[in-house]
Amino acid sequence: MREDLLAFVSNRGTLLEPDAVDFLLAQDDAVKRLEAFLESCPETPFVVTLDDVMSAGDVARKAAAQVSTRTPTETNLAAAFIPASFRRLGERAVDHDPDVRILRDITGHSTCEGTLADFTRYFRHRFQVLRKMLRSRHELAGAQEIAKARRSTREVQIIGIVADVRTTKNGHRILEIEDEADRIAVLLPSDSAVASEVAVLDEVIGVVGTVNDRGLVIAHSIVRPDLPTVKAFRGTRHHVRAAFMSDIHVGSRTFLEDKWSKVSSWLGGADEVAASIRYLVVSGDVVDGIGVYPRQDEELAIDDIYGQYEALARMIADLPDRITVVMLPGNHDAVRPAEPQPAFPTSIQHLFDSNVIFAGNPSLLSLEGVRVLAYHGRSMDDLVSAIPGMSYARPIDAMKAMLRMRHLAPIYGGKTPIAPEAEDHLIIEEVPDIFATGHVHAAGVDQYRGVVLVNSSTWQAQTPYQKMRNIEPMPARLPIVDLASGVAIVREF
Ligand SMILES: [Fe+2]
Ligand SMILES: [Fe+2]
Repeated sequence: MREDLLAFVSNRGTLLEPDAVDFLLAQDDAVKRLEAFLESCPETPFVVTLDDVMSAGDVARKAAAQVSTRTPTETNLAAAFIPASFRRLGERAVDHDPDVRILRDITGHSTCEGTLADFTRYFRHRFQVLRKMLRSRHELAGAQEIAKARRSTREVQIIGIVADVRTTKNGHRILEIEDEADRIAVLLPSDSAVASEVAVLDEVIGVVGTVNDRGLVIAHSIVRPDLPTVKAFRGTRHHVRAAFMSDIHVGSRTFLEDKWSKVSSWLGGADEVAASIRYLVVSGDVVDGIGVYPRQDEELAIDDIYGQYEALARMIADLPDRITVVMLPGNHDAVRPAEPQPAFPTSIQHLFDSNVIFAGNPSLLSLEGVRVLAYHGRSMDDLVSAIPGMSYARPIDAMKAMLRMRHLAPIYGGKTPIAPEAEDHLIIEEVPDIFATGHVHAAGVDQYRGVVLVNSSTWQAQTPYQKMRNIEPMPARLPIVDLASGVAIVREF
């Protein structure tokens, strides 16, 4: 029963308070009662509380009583005024034209050659943009250069890029931070409020503290660029929806063909939620690739790179015409591995039909004015190993960390190769309405300060490599976001 209830909750894209779970499980009609409550809400709430479900029984009884006293025609008319749930709000996507724009990506703008001068310029750009963001925070309005701050006898505010992180034998942590001219050590005392702050290499942070007589900054607080305010979701007028996929890994022996046919026929079928899906954002690892890791050939069902994309192109061509697909590459795809990655070359684009739009990784997209930041998510490998408590099973935590740092891949020199472009395209300059990632083969939806977060599962079963590393994928889940309300659900196939 508990599993049925939790599956229902996750399919409806909401969360249940633990007390509400216990209360519902003590009733004989847990799912029905919760469904009645959700039907009575104008929008699916992010969390359903104990009070909500306690009143849900009355809602159901009232609704039943009203329906039974109406004539059939009145019932149909009244149905239009019943506050709609996610399902009911959908509108047929086919009723209006698609509107996709790529607002920002690297495609056609790459200038770097990987020289030392390129790297200096790249990090200077990263530092300057994030410093400007940090200076707009009131805690750092008086931020000084490190060289000046080190002589101050008062509380100082400084901004720097994290050059080193270490822990002393007494459990204190020391961050070395540097700006354009100087570098200083910052102490996070183990018995202070900042002891739990985790900083990763190459992120840009602000520090408020005092300088001691040995020239060490004793931190009082750490300030991140973050999303300083909660913003309202900028929705479309129509309840059209976008679905999110990634990590299809076509060509792999572990590609889940049966699950793909299920999702494909659901998308093309009569379901009203499916019929309201206008856009499909595919965030990389669309094929398994060739030579991505040692002895990969033993795990390939299609060992020709073009053959893999051709197979994918056929699968995409079978999706209904009303769905416009936006496709970006990931670390398994046939573009340069260094991020930002450009869109697929024309030799691959030509294999697909005109319903597919190709974008770089990352890219900032507009779907009918709703801004979607799509990023494959390779940097999660580095964040999971750098931040205690982060896990492959909970990519949403890593996504929130990226938003707090306002950077998609802060750590340089780890598993995420970064190309030193003239500008740092991995900075999250503009706050999106939806932030979508993939790569970790998990699935989840959430929100952070008004930004809808989506991690988009996989269509590949557990690989021998994942088995070895104890990674349990969550395949065949399709996150769907209502572009009018921002309400997100995950449908399992
Ligand atoms: Fe993948
Ligand atoms: Fe990946």
